[in-house]
Amino acid sequence: MTSLTETKPMSSPTSSDALILTETSGAVGIIRINRPKVLNALNPELMTQLAVQMEKWDADSAISVMLLAGSERAWAAGADIGDMAEQTAISMYERDQFATWDRIARIKKPIVAAVSGYALGGGCELMMMCDIVIAADNAQIGQPEINIGVMPGAGGTQRLTRAVGKAVAMDVILAGRNLTAQEALAVGLVSRLVPREHWFDAALKVAQDLAKKPSVALRLAKEAVLKAHELNLTEGVLHERKLFYMLFATEDQKEGMKAFAEKRKASFKGR
Ligand code: CAA
Repeated sequence: MTSLTETKPMSSPTSSDALILTETSGAVGIIRINRPKVLNALNPELMTQLAVQMEKWDADSAISVMLLAGSERAWAAGADIGDMAEQTAISMYERDQFATWDRIARIKKPIVAAVSGYALGGGCELMMMCDIVIAADNAQIGQPEINIGVMPGAGGTQRLTRAVGKAVAMDVILAGRNLTAQEALAVGLVSRLVPREHWFDAALKVAQDLAKKPSVALRLAKEAVLKAHELNLTEGVLHERKLFYMLFATEDQKEGMKAFAEKRKASFKGR
């Protein structure tokens, strides 16, 4: 499989010192995490750059979907242990490093994750902040923080439990047992499995297909699904209904339903 549309590099993929590499492919904004020597360990500087770039694209009408990728060997092997090793409780509290992660959780546009290799600790937590996870069959996903004397700190205990239930979450977090890609699919932690050699292009294709869909509906549907983690059923259904009604203010709703009646492919404008 090859990429479907021309990609436009925004920062040079050859720059070995950049923490993230960005490019665009049509309306897809692509970010690659780029710390190969430490298996893409996520330090505060990298996470700040990631949040800044995602917020920029969230506000850019030329971009409707984001694709976040690691490398074939590692999506991300966790928060940077070297960076945290000498921190104290007070310094961790004062620098509040996970506040940056919350900014990523607030991104409104859909984020597709291209996950290959290790997605551990903070890597798993970052993956769970994405919306559609395309995992290669070599992926290893887990929260092994227990083995270095801590526990998940970027939402892992909450998002993993909501995603897979208590029994599997306890096994992953307390026993530090990594899930295989197949196990992760079976418990609903990832969306699709692909052969390792297609870890990136399969995810790019998903992102490009999403980018052809009505973008306001995409954003509101994402919002509604995420609310399922926070609201009770009655409140959630009510919230969904308001967003559904709101979509009738878009040209894309008129076009989508008209195209269906005329038995032709809809041409969406993102408004
Ligand atoms: N932070 C910093 N450096 C890391 C790292 C991390 N999370 N994970 C790997 N690295 C570094 C290694 O130290 C090593 O560096 P050197 O070559 O300089 O020694 C390099 O990446 C390659 O790693 P390995 O030699 O260990 O590679 P491996 O294939 O033998 O093992 C691994 C791979 C099983 C992923 C192993 O590296 C590992 O266990 N990593 C740590 C995983 C982990 O504990 N993650 C949780 C971090 S804490 C956290 O994320 C808190 C939170 O909730 C946000």
